[in-house]
Amino acid sequence: MTQTTDERLVRRVTVPALRSMKRKGERISMITAYDATFARMLDEAGADVLLVGDSLGMVVQGRDSTLPVTVDEVIYHCRAVARGTRRAHIVGDMPFMSWQLSPEQALTNAARFLAEGGAHAIKLEGGIDAAPTIERVVRAGIPVMGHVGLTPQSVHAMGGFRVQGRTAAAAERVLADAMAVEEAGAYSLVLEGIPTDLAARITDALSIPTIGIGAGPHCDGQVLVCYDLLGLTQDLAPRFVKRYAELFESGRQAAARYCEEVKSGAFPEEAHGFGEVRRDAPVLVEARGGGYGPRG
Ligand code: KIV
Repeated sequence: MTQTTDERLVRRVTVPALRSMKRKGERISMITAYDATFARMLDEAGADVLLVGDSLGMVVQGRDSTLPVTVDEVIYHCRAVARGTRRAHIVGDMPFMSWQLSPEQALTNAARFLAEGGAHAIKLEGGIDAAPTIERVVRAGIPVMGHVGLTPQSVHAMGGFRVQGRTAAAAERVLADAMAVEEAGAYSLVLEGIPTDLAARITDALSIPTIGIGAGPHCDGQVLVCYDLLGLTQDLAPRFVKRYAELFESGRQAAARYCEEVKSGAFPEEAHGFGEVRRDAPVLVEARGGGYGPRG
């Protein structure tokens, strides 16, 4: 694929760049994305990392957990996100049971995220138990982002979406998981739903960047689900989310205005149409902007 001059001017965020951000104390901004238009918006906003999360099962597909999401579905969304970005590092999330059967299964699926999905790395949930798999995938040259603490794919084992590491013993287990993931070769680690002081301790102990969600302010970076930060989710309101806009409400109001204007005949106006047939034209003249293509 040939690049335009404009594309060559934008430097892609890479694995080494993310590692060096930790060393320099520069915070990493990560946001989930699932389609090309949102990816473009978030990329232009300056997000360092776009995660094509299996959270798409909940916010895009309307399911009540991430468990039914398939490899093919995440790859489909990865491809769309990859088309929409120029700068952000793209991470594809390995869904439930896409890597647990064997390191070979993990490697086969992880490779698909890069080769077919256009992702630059994969993420998988798990600590000590996942370490041999992470090692295998990393050895094949595929960068792995780990994910410990509250791991949504283990929702049933945890008895719900519960904060992890609250007792001294549980905190040690989360720390041990984090260390195992780093030792296995992961280049970064999501810390989800753990106490703030535990996240700070893990962040200090690791040389790879930690990216928190519901893990307090001391991580090397933060991640939010884009539908949450844009105020598109209506029925989920976790404490750790900050809504930077209310797009559901403004979208609802805009669509309601459109519906009213269609009913009243206020839309479309003359200016939205293509005038009259040019009976005197010698050949067929196509009006620009006549289809659902680039705006003309
Ligand atoms: O699937 C997802 O969106 C995630 C983030 C919340 C870290 O795993």
